Amino acid sequence: MRDAAPQTIYLKDYTPFGYLIDSVHLTFKLHPTTTRVLSRIAFRPNPDATDKTFFLHGEQLTLISAKIDGAEITPEVTDEGLIANVPDAPFVWEAEVEISPSTNTALEGLYMSNGMYCTQCEAEGFRKITYYPDRPDVMATFDVRIEGDEKVLLSNGNPGASGDGFAEWSDPWKKPAYLFALVAGDLVNHPGQFTTKSGKDVELNIWVRPGDDGKCAFGMQALKDSMKWDEDVYGREYDLDIFNIVAVDDFNMGAMENKGLNIFNSSCVLASQATSTDADFERIEAIIAHEYFHNWTGNRITCRDWFQLCLKEGLTVFRDAQFTADMRSEPVKRIDDVIALRARQFPEDQGPLSHPVRPEEFQEINNFYTATVYEKGAEVIGMLKTLVGDEAYYQALDLYFERHDGDAATIEDWIKVFEDCTGRDLTQFKRWYSQSGTPKVSVREEWQAESGTFTLHFSQSTAPTPGQDVKDPRVIPIALGLLNPNGDETHPTRIFEMMEAEQSLTFTGLGARPIPSILRGFSAPVMLEQDIDNARRAFLLAHDTDEFNRWEAGRDLARDSLINMILKDAAPDPAYLDGLKRVVTDTSLDAAYRALMLAQPTETELAGALAALGETPDPDKIYAATKALSKAKAGILADDLHALYSDNQPQGPYTPDAEGSGKRALANMAMALLGRLGQLDPAKAQFATADNMTQQIAALATLVREGAGTEAVQDFYDQWKSDRLVIDKWFGLQAGMADPDQAAEVAKALTQHADFDMKNPNRFRATLGAFAGNHAGFHHATGAGYKLLADWLIKLDPVNPQTTARMCTAFQTWKRYDSQRQSLIRAELERILATEGLSRDTHEMVTRILG
Ligand code: ARG
Ligand code: ZN
Repeated sequence: MRDAAPQTIYLKDYTPFGYLIDSVHLTFKLHPTTTRVLSRIAFRPNPDATDKTFFLHGEQLTLISAKIDGAEITPEVTDEGLIANVPDAPFVWEAEVEISPSTNTALEGLYMSNGMYCTQCEAEGFRKITYYPDRPDVMATFDVRIEGDEKVLLSNGNPGASGDGFAEWSDPWKKPAYLFALVAGDLVNHPGQFTTKSGKDVELNIWVRPGDDGKCAFGMQALKDSMKWDEDVYGREYDLDIFNIVAVDDFNMGAMENKGLNIFNSSCVLASQATSTDADFERIEAIIAHEYFHNWTGNRITCRDWFQLCLKEGLTVFRDAQFTADMRSEPVKRIDDVIALRARQFPEDQGPLSHPVRPEEFQEINNFYTATVYEKGAEVIGMLKTLVGDEAYYQALDLYFERHDGDAATIEDWIKVFEDCTGRDLTQFKRWYSQSGTPKVSVREEWQAESGTFTLHFSQSTAPTPGQDVKDPRVIPIALGLLNPNGDETHPTRIFEMMEAEQSLTFTGLGARPIPSILRGFSAPVMLEQDIDNARRAFLLAHDTDEFNRWEAGRDLARDSLINMILKDAAPDPAYLDGLKRVVTDTSLDAAYRALMLAQPTETELAGALAALGETPDPDKIYAATKALSKAKAGILADDLHALYSDNQPQGPYTPDAEGSGKRALANMAMALLGRLGQLDPAKAQFATADNMTQQIAALATLVREGAGTEAVQDFYDQWKSDRLVIDKWFGLQAGMADPDQAAEVAKALTQHADFDMKNPNRFRATLGAFAGNHAGFHHATGAGYKLLADWLIKLDPVNPQTTARMCTAFQTWKRYDSQRQSLIRAELERILATEGLSRDTHEMVTRILG
């Protein structure tokens, strides 16, 4: 048990820091276990602050000396920082501290990864580097000197003097400490160059370990594309002489937008045809864009406090989604995002971890880098854009950049620019930031044949969530259109702004009862309840002009069919199978879209859908139904699969673009369905001859799924054992696809493999994260899956609390399941909670999950 009750921080308690900073000078004398950090910081009293306590954050630091205006002092030091008496006038703080990067396994602050020094300071890591007011509203310019033997010494901003064993950097832009970064190592660079629209030359570099230099070209192109796109679409130019990206193997998250020195999990930047899948390429392009876009939305305008995290993250996710839609296919990107939202954000929003897009309290901020803050935060911006229109949206953004450049801003500031620009009152809209939970929107149709009048009666409600029993109606932009019974669109997409709990929309002068297409493009992150039958869905699947809703109609058919198979032992729905066959063999549709149509809801998604219906999901039945439906799909498409497979082999050299990846996706689906029919030759041949990872791993997956993968699994390992990122896939595929009855054993054996390393977050997630995603395996009635994960969370917690806490979310849906599984899970959660010295991170997560 913890010795002290963890402290809760509240938004309502915000007060500014008592001092402003004019400049920061840092000197690093690097050493694996005894790095010295010297700081010289010019402070002055903040005229806007009343509390003048001089408290500097500091954790796991050894204070060597502290001075104020040159005079040695002895501050009062605790585990969390220090307090000193300071003059009521400008003064210079100097300190020397010692830290040990090589033993820092939490990967927060200054740490080492494969012999290279690197940092991660967001959210509160800078306090593990030196004493500092480690909060985003304290901004300063930084000058940094690094002393070390490494070939490459990097920090933020522009390069200054350098020579044997040292380099200096200075960042002219004021920034909070969470954007500080330092890298030192024997790295090699992949260089590039970009000229901004006003003619400024920028040096670009991607820094990697020797041997990874062949995997940088794609990331470099993505960076240039991002720089250009932000100029073209948002008018935002880059503002330093140099932009560096560094790839690091040990990293808790995806990547980090440190000013001028982005640090990336190597899995989110290194790409090559042979080792990366099409999905990896797309993800890498999006993450490079995301971090680059933060230069304006995050760095030039940052957050006042961590409650405002969605101010930078929601907006930056929204911007990177726009970028991907422009680079690739807009409907495909939208469908992918909605699938991800439902898979990750909906369970969070509808379970014990539910929190508003702007949370109002936390214990450990790292626990709030969530799908709600990021992805729902982006949805909220999408709704705002829909409501005000494109033109007003970009005007408001211009005003935001103009008004708040250099600020640490709030959601109130953000909303205000939209109000000032459009004259709209956004008070009610702001509930999207303060109310948690997924609204349910129900629609009832009324048709009056004599008068040709059609009315849609909408109602909205949101179930109570932790800490919020009562919900007020939100502003919900509902995009909709009407089709006539022939399948022609008579009323194109318009936006219905729902503001009340109940509200109706009437169409008059209609000759026949129309078929509405509602929530086009998924115009709001809600659950839509519509009383429609499968004939109607099949009609929309065939005729809707909105590609999202067309896909949605097919998805609904698949889901309903699966639910009937699970609950009523029904056969697969012929209406779904017929509609699917028509769409999938329609060569006028693009391949990526057809591949999306051919996919079906995941087992986890079905468990959520059943829970939403008030049913208790049975993981074994869900597993069986999913398998049966894919066999039925293979059956009905039996005559088409060979053609689908061979007609969609991309011609010419491999390119990871939308067209090539769409074709590979469709062909690989056909290969997988042939596998369901026992036809494994295509998969065997493809595994042996593939010249790219997309096709190689899809073939491997097909063989493993059909129980014919033993040899291929070994061959794959032998081929790729020296490539860490590919071996992560090897771990993930086996843990994720293992037969439910053996999954816990398989995952356990993988954790005993010589290449398993719990200190590497990618490897840990690849193994145990993938296992937790093996729905029927993880939720096996014996509880072996729960125990395995809990054992490893307990082991990892003292090493890396952040990754441990994040992986606790595997248990967040536990109350969906039957009482036996619930009590098995509860016992594991309580066992974790009873662990001596449990981190604040994991303690908070498990406590909230238990509810
Ligand atoms: N700001 C980063 C991004 O979204 C994420 C860093 C989060 N890191 C953390 N330890 N909480 O790109
Ligand atoms: Zn971000």
